[in-house]
Amino acid sequence: MLIVGNQKTYLSKEAVLEFVSKIKDYRNNNVVICPSYLYIDLFCSNTDLIVGSQNVSEKEISSMTGEITARQLSSMGIKYCIVGHSERREYLKENSDVFANKIKNLIDNNIIPIFCVGEKQTEKGNNLTKDVVGKQILEVLSNFASCDIKNIVIAYEPVWAIGTGLVPTNEEIIDVVNYIKDLISDKFGINLLVLYGGSVNKKNISLLNQISSIDGYLIGGASTKVDEFLYIVSECSK
Ligand code: 13P
Repeated sequence: MLIVGNQKTYLSKEAVLEFVSKIKDYRNNNVVICPSYLYIDLFCSNTDLIVGSQNVSEKEISSMTGEITARQLSSMGIKYCIVGHSERREYLKENSDVFANKIKNLIDNNIIPIFCVGEKQTEKGNNLTKDVVGKQILEVLSNFASCDIKNIVIAYEPVWAIGTGLVPTNEEIIDVVNYIKDLISDKFGINLLVLYGGSVNKKNISLLNQISSIDGYLIGGASTKVDEFLYIVSECSK
């Protein structure tokens, strides 16, 4: 199981310091925290956690004002990086070409990309979930050789489930996760880890855990509260 916390832009410096002080002696090789860029060093310097990034520059060049490159992330000890999150698709208009460039830079710097895919509510309503998710995956993964693809983790995050408290049924998740695994295995001959993300919390984790084909979770809001986050992790180790 791989459990990844995406803390987005939720926490102030004070809140991060409190989070870090509560979790500083915790180490678990299956747990990754992705803080805001601003707080990466706080986590790297003061905890034993595996630290990931929420983003990376599309360009790997040394003069990109305001950006942070994969090489810089690697120099900080970053092991994972989220790419393709629906918030970046929606609000920053990032597309498959951007994601492919980011993933290339990450792989070149030995950082594992966590590539997010997922359908919007209307797409689900129109029975387009697999079309959308399949297109998102193939447009990006087709840029890579199998030896590079094997380093990627996929996160299935239905857009309508993010931050809403809504979660697909277990049957719906199983259907999409199996589709993703079969698609990648058929096209590239590789079995990738597939995480689920979208409103995972302490109340629904035991139900979600009944799905054996899920390889882990990408957790937003619930990853900002130490007690809830560690409770979810402990449920996943059962
Ligand atoms: P929530 O867990 O807050 O719904 O967020 C999910 C997410 O976007 C993780 O990347």
